[in-house]
Amino acid sequence: MPAPPVAVVGLGQLGGSLAAALAAAGRPVSGWDVDPAAREAAAARGVAITRELSGVVVLAVPLPAMATALDGLVVDPAATVTDLGSVKRPVLEALSPALGSRFVGGHPMCGTERSGHEAVDPELFRGARWAVCLEAGTELPRWLRVAEVALAVGAEVVPATAAEHDDAVAAISAVPHLLAAALAAAAADAGPLALSLAAGSFGSGTRVIGSDPAFVTAMVEGNAAPTEQALARVRAQLDRPWPELVAAGHAAVTRRPGRRAVRVPLERSALLALGRSGGAVTRRLAAFVEGWVPDPA
Ligand SMILES: NC(=O)c1ccc[n+]([C@@H]2O[C@H](COP(=O)([O-])OP(=O)(O)OC[C@H]3O[C@@H](n4cnc5c(N)ncnc54)[C@H](O)[C@@H]3O)[C@@H](O)[C@H]2O)c1
Repeated sequence: MPAPPVAVVGLGQLGGSLAAALAAAGRPVSGWDVDPAAREAAAARGVAITRELSGVVVLAVPLPAMATALDGLVVDPAATVTDLGSVKRPVLEALSPALGSRFVGGHPMCGTERSGHEAVDPELFRGARWAVCLEAGTELPRWLRVAEVALAVGAEVVPATAAEHDDAVAAISAVPHLLAAALAAAAADAGPLALSLAAGSFGSGTRVIGSDPAFVTAMVEGNAAPTEQALARVRAQLDRPWPELVAAGHAAVTRRPGRRAVRVPLERSALLALGRSGGAVTRRLAAFVEGWVPDPA
């Protein structure tokens, strides 16, 4: 069966990169953006600009615009709708009343602190993890259609529920952004000498807070309770004796488990178990997906 067309709403960094990657791979891809400059840039990369959307419709707009992004657009009633938003529960709650099981949430774990169509990179998704949400009511054929788009641009698919996703990204995305903000603000308070001496470790620890403040605010406020819990875990870590804390952090980031290849049946609980184990899907076969799980040995 030929892969369905993909239509991307929001042709900025993430959406423009996805549309460009699919167009470069020879896939039919269309899209829409409220900004004429983003539309022009996408058209120059081979994206058909239209308000009529079908196949897999990808919402790549800022989080506050998700609920209304399809207003004024014509969406094929058979289309599967997904999104690239950095939090999943609020988007699911906003879109499922209208879309029901036609909506399958997603979140590619990539992107830079830049934004807009000038930041488009067709290679952005290669090697990235891409969470594709499997709720109790998700239709597996639609989940597979969304997963196939992620695989087509070189990402690895991580099955997770929206709630599991939001808890996980609070720890590895929301908290790093808040810590980067705190580090930067505290260094600014320390004075000009500190800032003039700032080099590699300060740059690595603060890079992400160079992102658009509206993007970061929407991400942390949209995931407030899990972010509070993840911050509480960081505060508890900071109360440990420093040698113990340094050793624990070092061990966590230098541990490099191998990968063990697995085949998983196309079934919700097996796919979610793969995601929970830290593994990912790399290929779809007839009745299975192929992927890997971490192998500590
Ligand atoms: N930037 C990242 O690192 C990153 C990573 C993963 C996921 N995301 C998510 O991806 C989504 C897009 O982020 P981005 O970084 O590409 O943002 P961006 O600002 O680069 O692009 C957003 C685009 O959406 C357009 N837009 C806004 N409202 C619209 C509407 N109603 N209809 C059509 N177009 C509209 C804007 O004109 C812009 O071109 C967000 O939901 C974000 O949470 C971002």
